[in-house]
Amino acid sequence: MKFLIISQRAIPLPGYQLNDLTGHGRIDVIFRCILSALRPIGTGIDNKVYAYLKNGEHPGYLSMQSSDIDPNEDEISLAYKIKNNWDTYFTKKSLQELIAEWPNADIWHLHEDGISLSDATIEHLNSIFVLGAQSDLTEEDLQKIQPMGNVKIGETSMLASQVIAYVRLKLSL
Ligand SMILES: C[S@@+](CC[C@H](N)C(=O)[O-])C[C@H]1O[C@@H](n2cnc3c(N)ncnc32)[C@H](O)[C@@H]1O
Repeated sequence: MKFLIISQRAIPLPGYQLNDLTGHGRIDVIFRCILSALRPIGTGIDNKVYAYLKNGEHPGYLSMQSSDIDPNEDEISLAYKIKNNWDTYFTKKSLQELIAEWPNADIWHLHEDGISLSDATIEHLNSIFVLGAQSDLTEEDLQKIQPMGNVKIGETSMLASQVIAYVRLKLSL
């Protein structure tokens, strides 16, 4: 299962301080989402997460999979790992180019204004779940992504990391 988080604010550069992740456009939110997508829950399978960082002249995405995460990984150890291996995990590309890499995938936009996750027919192995970080996707993002539909896990707005954990538990991944 794949997740794509789109951040309007996180800065796509490795120059953050480990004791001030929030000061780098709330990149702490991104690290929490990555952990939420990749840390094992039960048995788990090999998930993949993409975090598209739009803030700046050279946007691009961090990508990681379950095997990149150590068993006791936390927000700070992950921030350190990514900072010191930025070129391994970061790819400078447009959002359109990233989406074009998945021509046959089912792209679902996670949003509280949508159909319930339990009512949607989701082939989770072929699905990509897209969500905002600290703010919602813009209309421009949605135009580029062209999701199959909106899927909600509840009526109220939740933290992106909560949403990811919930989807994984619900689909048992
Ligand atoms: C912290 S929320 C965004 C905050 C808020 N909606 C705003 O812009 O002020 C992060 C993202 O999680 C997803 N999300 C939040 N609540 C959800 C829910 N109840 N069901 C499905 N997705 C949700 C949406 O993609 C949202 O953009």
